[in-house]
Amino acid sequence: MLFEKRKNREICLSKRSTGMPQPDNFQIVETPLCTNGNSDVLIRNRWFRVSISTRLMMSEEAETVEGIPFPPIAIGDTLADAAIGQVISAPTNSYLKPGDYVFHPYGWREFAMVKQENCIFLGTHIHHPAAYLGHGWTAYAALSKGIQVHSGDVVFISSGAGAIGSMAAQIARKMGAKYIIGSTGSLNKVEWMKQTLKYDQVIIRGEGTISEQLHRYAPDGIDIFVDIVGGEQLAAAVSHTREGARLVLLGALSAELADKESTKFAPVEIDSFSLIVKGVTMRGYSADNNPEMFSEWIARLDEPEWAEITFSSTLFKGLESAPLALQAACSGKARGVVIVEI
Ligand SMILES: NC(=O)c1ccc[n+]([C@@H]2O[C@H](COP(=O)([O-])OP(=O)(O)OC[C@H]3O[C@@H](n4cnc5c(N)ncnc54)[C@H](OP(=O)(O)O)[C@@H]3O)[C@@H](O)[C@H]2O)c1
Repeated sequence: MLFEKRKNREICLSKRSTGMPQPDNFQIVETPLCTNGNSDVLIRNRWFRVSISTRLMMSEEAETVEGIPFPPIAIGDTLADAAIGQVISAPTNSYLKPGDYVFHPYGWREFAMVKQENCIFLGTHIHHPAAYLGHGWTAYAALSKGIQVHSGDVVFISSGAGAIGSMAAQIARKMGAKYIIGSTGSLNKVEWMKQTLKYDQVIIRGEGTISEQLHRYAPDGIDIFVDIVGGEQLAAAVSHTREGARLVLLGALSAELADKESTKFAPVEIDSFSLIVKGVTMRGYSADNNPEMFSEWIARLDEPEWAEITFSSTLFKGLESAPLALQAACSGKARGVVIVEI
């Protein structure tokens, strides 16, 4: 192992959280920058994503939640999330060169040592960082592989201003959807959702029932539901489906961002008869099942007809800002994906 004079700074978990993570749950730790001789890629991180799932992974409940798709974070662990960095050095004969941009899973730190097979080469120049760190590819995979959008579809997207939702609306439109409704709990996002993300109507969580609002904006029902919230929004969507509707379930924020406790247990009462008589397809889907869709999504962005996609993101500057960025992501203060630039 070679030790360079430079130090690495990384954010570790100092104590488990209950409810909303607070700054004292984190600690910035300085470590010597050690490189594994010639076998790994040394990367200077430039941007990393802050995901709301971190709240559950670092919480006191994390150990006990059944079926959690990611490992709990232990005290002393460095946090991690998708990152974009530039190569400083790479193994001899590597196709990677100093200065290349790569995508990898080790954010929340200034430098990362990453096995070459865990790096995705992005190029010597890149699109907006949110093109890679955002959930455009998740939404693209869900609407291509999870379910299919048909021309003229009426679409409802829960958490329509969030990381997945802000992209799902634009992608569904590109795929032929005619009328798109999104939901938010933040009144101050409504105009932005209409003007920038091109939603036709916005449903407000907490202003009357979701069912009443959905009925008002889609009196003849919906063809597609992209669900990121679950709970009342899923129940309302099921009741307002049209014949042959397709529902893709991606997240359950109503449980994950519940005020007191973060949980993956998301029970909901739905009208199953409505699914049967209308031949509705309801599918739980994870984009991780189709990792090949990441590069297909990035390739799409070079096509002229996809060029006007807006990458919605809320940017925080400096490694120290990451704990605040996580709070913003979980509290409704952010739009689109939350990114820390370092
Ligand atoms: N299936 C997959 O492939 C996949 C991939 C990645 C993530 N996920 C899952 O998808 C979910 C959402 O991910 P995301 O990153 O796109 O999140 P997100 O929508 O950006 O989530 C944050 C937003 O949720 C809203 N919110 C806050 N509290 C809420 C509550 N109690 N109920 C409903 N909404 C609330 C707020 O927006 P407003 O102020 O606008 O309401 C907040 O800004 C998570 O459950 C995650 O695990 C799934």
